[in-house]
Amino acid sequence: MDIYDEKFVENLFNRMSKTYGTANYLSSFGFTERWRKQCIREIDWNIEIEKGFDLMSGMGETWDLIDKESKQNHQLIGVDISPAMNIKANERINKYHSLEISIREENVLHNDIDSNSSDYIVSTFGLKTFSDEN
Ligand SMILES: C[S@@+](CC[C@H](N)C(=O)[O-])C[C@H]1O[C@@H](n2cnc3c(N)ncnc32)[C@H](O)[C@@H]1O
Repeated sequence: MDIYDEKFVENLFNRMSKTYGTANYLSSFGFTERWRKQCIREIDWNIEIEKGFDLMSGMGETWDLIDKESKQNHQLIGVDISPAMNIKANERINKYHSLEISIREENVLHNDIDSNSSDYIVSTFGLKTFSDEN
């Protein structure tokens, strides 16, 4: 079993999608939310922002935080390999007035994102699914 295999990761998160939010919160004693907040605050929200990417966006766990911190209306594109996580994320994309959110279902390691096409990139708890080689 190759735990870094693309299909393995996709299936894992498809299966976890029903419980991911609660399990993640409880197993970290709530720290995941605090760490996401710290991550989003690292972004310089004073620069001019038109577009940002959330890589391995899961169910859109960072979007409330981005919406709160960002002073500008902008386009936010979530990228995630798991259809089930994306279905959950899709349920919240219209919740925001300042963010125009869309979701790309693709592997970030083989993505179609143009270089220099983004003002910021964020990724929370995505890199832990990568091997050293990835
Ligand atoms: C641990 S979750 C993190 C979700 C969210 N960012 C958060 O803060 O909770 C990892 C997410 O990365 C996605 N993922 C893992 N490897 C990926 C890859 N190579 N390309 C795109 N998405 C990937 C999984 O489907 C899963 O939704």
